[in-house]
Amino acid sequence: MLPAYVPNTLAALCGGGIPIDLGREYSDGRRLLGDGKTYRGLLIGVLAGIAVGFFQIWLLRTYSWDVLPPQTFLSVIALAVGALLGDMTKSFFKRRLGKDRGEQWPVADQYDLVAGAFLLLLIIDPSWLFTTITLPILIVILILTPVLHRMVNIIGYLCHIKDVPW
Ligand code: CTP
Ligand code: MG
Repeated sequence: MLPAYVPNTLAALCGGGIPIDLGREYSDGRRLLGDGKTYRGLLIGVLAGIAVGFFQIWLLRTYSWDVLPPQTFLSVIALAVGALLGDMTKSFFKRRLGKDRGEQWPVADQYDLVAGAFLLLLIIDPSWLFTTITLPILIVILILTPVLHRMVNIIGYLCHIKDVPW
């Protein structure tokens, strides 16, 4: 899951600047995505996720470390791109519910990246998804994701990178 987890953190660290929705509003008068989704965050996040995944592939090939999942170029790209697409989709619906940028939306805020990554995998590499993400692994992911999410956000808050600890 590293190629899916890294993009969110890197987007929060390096994001900012021009928003993806270019400030545009939806028919409900609220922002399409909001200022929390920027081109810089998307680009740096996706590139960082892909870099981590390619490093995993390199480790696997060089040291034949079978503790690592058998990442492929396709799985890495789907995990990294899907994670931030899921995050953007979440923000779209979050705005439609009238929630402001940075406001809490439990469950969706934590699992957006998992849903996005798995949905994209389902489309572009379903065989990888079903052979790698077995039921026990899925359960670990579902438990670990909110825990990691919370931990990273508290660290980000304490380091003044995030305005809120969630
Ligand atoms: N970020 C970014 N571009 C993205 C995703 C995230 O620049 N595509 C940065 C933004 O600075 C954002 C921060 O990462 O504020 C934290 O991301 P997230 O918690 O997903 O955004 P929120 O600000 O909480 O916005 P939203 O309510 O839309 O989720
Ligand atoms: Mg948030």
